[in-house]
Amino acid sequence: MIIAMDGPAASGKGTLAKRLAAHYGLPFLDTGLLYRAVGARVAPFEGRPGFEAEAIKAARTLDAGKIDPESIRGVGAGRLASMVGAISGVRAALFDTQRQFALQPGGAVLDGRDIGTVVCPEAEVKIFLTATLEARVARRAAQLDALNPATGVRIDTVALRAEIAARDARDRAAPHGGFRPARDAHLLDTSEMDIEAAFRAALAIVERAIADTAGGRT
Ligand code: DC
Repeated sequence: MIIAMDGPAASGKGTLAKRLAAHYGLPFLDTGLLYRAVGARVAPFEGRPGFEAEAIKAARTLDAGKIDPESIRGVGAGRLASMVGAISGVRAALFDTQRQFALQPGGAVLDGRDIGTVVCPEAEVKIFLTATLEARVARRAAQLDALNPATGVRIDTVALRAEIAARDARDRAAPHGGFRPARDAHLLDTSEMDIEAAFRAALAIVERAIADTAGGRT
């Protein structure tokens, strides 16, 4: 079974996808990490003419096994990831890695932006998360707080809001056009849900899809 979990920044997709993967004993890939790793590698080229070519080169030579997730979770890495995600050559270079991961025996859970539309259009279950900008800003602020518990630095939520809104706009305009719910995706609005409620709702969607498949309905 392939589960595709798509949605905007800070919609909770990573947490939910990881929990679904643990629940069903499936391997999990956070595809945002691939884009973040590429973005981090080309940070020195930002604003320079070679940026695009360097990003494509970085994507082609990326060793997904060597990514250190903790170093690229921050806001700056998210911005760069979204910039390299707008480059078709980067998307093409990362496609095979995602596809191979999805096609391993037994299936997998992948989260991202275009999993249900481009990477795995055949996924048995597609969930497209939405949440208001306010809810997502609050969540991301809490996550960033938890990342740096000792610093006591207050998160600038106005800047964070602007950053997430800019990322939304850039992601939607990305050339692949895949950042939208697939026709057969289940929409889940998590604005008013805590993580437990969202997990129960996501689980119910997957269980219904499994029952429908077993019953011969797709
Ligand atoms: O899921 P995330 O916030 O870690 O993703 C960071 C950025 O990477 C996101 O703003 C756009 C890009 N991305 C993408 O273009 N396609 C994906 N499948 C995953 C992420």
